[in-house]
Amino acid sequence: MASELVFGLQAREELDEAGLIMARAYENYDYVTLYFPDMEKSRKGLQIFMRCVLKANYGKADLLAVHRDGKLVARATLEAPNFKKPSAFQYIIHGFWRVYLNTKWSEINGFIAMDENASKPCHDFQKLGPDIWYLSMLEVDPSAQGQGVGSQFLTYIEEYVRERGGKQLALFTNSRENLAFYSKRGYEVFHECEIEHNGRKIGSWSMKKNGEVKEPQKIRNLNQALDKLRGEIDTVAPHDCMSLNFEIFEQVQVEKLLNNRSVIILDTALRGKFFNFPHNRI
Ligand SMILES: CC(C)(COP(=O)(O)OP(=O)(O)OC[C@H]1O[C@@H](n2cnc3c(N)ncnc32)[C@H](O)[C@@H]1OP(=O)(O)O)[C@@H](O)C(=O)NCCC(=O)NCCS
Repeated sequence: MASELVFGLQAREELDEAGLIMARAYENYDYVTLYFPDMEKSRKGLQIFMRCVLKANYGKADLLAVHRDGKLVARATLEAPNFKKPSAFQYIIHGFWRVYLNTKWSEINGFIAMDENASKPCHDFQKLGPDIWYLSMLEVDPSAQGQGVGSQFLTYIEEYVRERGGKQLALFTNSRENLAFYSKRGYEVFHECEIEHNGRKIGSWSMKKNGEVKEPQKIRNLNQALDKLRGEIDTVAPHDCMSLNFEIFEQVQVEKLLNNRSVIILDTALRGKFFNFPHNRI
């Protein structure tokens, strides 16, 4: 039987390991090699860079992790709508200066400038609403790629965002494989451009997904349970009519359904009304 993936928040003690996964995952990524053509020489600097970025963002961004058999296999950085970038000082205290000792100044400075530019469409897009999240990084350790980890992680991330009131999730990517990966999972391109450096060009696609496109597992379970009970709904009197926010409602119900096998179900067609069902029918 395949080992179970455990999703959750990144522990501080694992930031070094997470930085190594990032460095390994991006080693052959055009976005990185465009500015660091000699990977042998840049590898150490990139590892320090990734660790530093993670440490400076710890407690600011939402750092998520996936474990399998107790081992970290994937990680992601999510920027909430109210995310505040770490200051230059925070990068310095986390050892950013060491990056300069291990890479060429021109390479690292060029990379940072390119990254600011490439992420701008997503950052601008985030300003359009109070409920837009930005997935700034997602990496699966190369040894675990191609086994469904990234897909399941993305589903978890979307659910995580939705549970926190997020309505849209934005991200950008720079490879055609990833473009296909995200397109297949319901993301659409809202901005497209090319990045050019030293005669090499790569694509940059900013993508977004609306909250309703992905039906999170919990909502799916609720809807499946409702479908089973639909025929019996008329026989049960509405328990209570309340005018709470629909979404909060929905989440409360789903939580109860999953955690306590609750008997209270919100019928999405009869918005705002509760019905009691015997425990054993769910
Ligand atoms: C892109 C990435 C997160 C996908 O995670 P994953 O666990 O390999 O993905 P899954 O196994 O769930 O799905 C594999 C799908 O992605 C595609 N894919 C893209 N890059 C891949 C890679 N390096 N290895 C395997 N599959 C890859 C496969 O073709 C496959 O397509 P399918 O949906 O038609 O089956 C992961 O490959 C990765 O970390 N890559 C390097 C870092 C990166 O590019 N991060 C994203 C930046 S936007």
